[in-house]
Amino acid sequence: MSNNLRINAERMRAAFDELAQVGSTAGGGVNRPAFSEAHLAARDWFRRLIEKAGLEFRSDGAGNHSALLPCGPVSAPTLLLGSHLDSVADGGRFDGALGVMAALEVLRTVKEAGLRLPFNLEAIDCTDEEGTLVGLLGSAALAGELEPEHLQSPRGGRRALVEGMHRAGLSEAGMLTAARPSGSLAGYLELHIEQGVRLERAGLDIGIVSAIVGISSYRLTFLGRADHAGTATMDDRLDASLGASAFTLAAREIVQGDFPDCVVNVGRMEFAPGAFNIVPARVELSLEFRAPDEGQFARLDSALIERAGGEAGRFGLELRTEFLGRHSPTPMSAAAQDAFSGACADLGLSHAPLVSGAGHDGQSLARICPVGMIFVPSADGASHSPREFTRWEDCVNGAEVLLQASLRFAERVVR
Ligand code: HGY
Ligand code: MN
Ligand code: MN
Repeated sequence: MSNNLRINAERMRAAFDELAQVGSTAGGGVNRPAFSEAHLAARDWFRRLIEKAGLEFRSDGAGNHSALLPCGPVSAPTLLLGSHLDSVADGGRFDGALGVMAALEVLRTVKEAGLRLPFNLEAIDCTDEEGTLVGLLGSAALAGELEPEHLQSPRGGRRALVEGMHRAGLSEAGMLTAARPSGSLAGYLELHIEQGVRLERAGLDIGIVSAIVGISSYRLTFLGRADHAGTATMDDRLDASLGASAFTLAAREIVQGDFPDCVVNVGRMEFAPGAFNIVPARVELSLEFRAPDEGQFARLDSALIERAGGEAGRFGLELRTEFLGRHSPTPMSAAAQDAFSGACADLGLSHAPLVSGAGHDGQSLARICPVGMIFVPSADGASHSPREFTRWEDCVNGAEVLLQASLRFAERVVR
């Protein structure tokens, strides 16, 4: 299948570096949480780049922005390529952005070559992949998976979601109109940084994602009683901080002891009233855990929530548990994995399968089309931090594999 078509690496580099300036932070990072001013600026920049590239601009009710290249028959399905332009707070400039820039470069390369394919090509920026507001919001809406109740108590808070939608000129009703007709997508392929150390340590060029972990989020509230921190005896206290802290340590022990393929994270604790001299009456804790398959996911969910109740009881506290959402563990399409491994072989790039410990938009889109992902190495495994870095040659390798895999996908469709 090999062909001589290659991306224009300088053009992709220029776009990537320009994008990295939007919402840039000290140390080479970016701060572009979904629908923040910086994220809105990045979306606007992307729209202008699409138009400058002579591609069609498309946006939907969920705020997904994309470039369209009508290189196939009018009624043909679309091969969707892309990732996300939103970032975590004070994140890195590669997470998501590399995938969107590589996707756009594939469209520009195919357009310049005047290639006709059995499908059309689209390069997308999916809304709120990072879960600042909801999590995989744009891709869930596009897959027809977004329900009104997902927008009522999202993990980023209802108020932040409403204010963000307002800033972006979106509405709840509009969000729910973004679903693509079934059969309209021939597949979804994404290039992403690994955000871990496996590729770098193994000296591999490309990781071919075999599955994406499931992710679940809860808000746990430990409720005790405010008391004078100087006069209440230690035994009489109903100290919410003790339950929250004991649970956080216990959660780590549970995972390390019984769920070695899983992870758990307490990313935030909020104390109230939050004064030096008041025993904490209330601690709100954000719990997220991840598992590679449904069985472990369910068992870990029960083990953690049960232990939270146990630690609350131990300190005489009440526990409130609020489920904020989950994304299922998702196997990647065998056809997509084959297309990627064939492309790596054509390009002489070393590669190996690996499970993604990070969540990605492919988890939503796998419900409506074949999905595949590749990773390129992250220096030192750093991500969700300004330290995030990937060598430019690795970025180019990833984009070349994305191009060749897209062409292989086209071959499959024709057969
Ligand atoms: O949090 C994640 O796993 C991804 O970076 N959104
Ligand atoms: Mn990402
Ligand atoms: Mn991320």
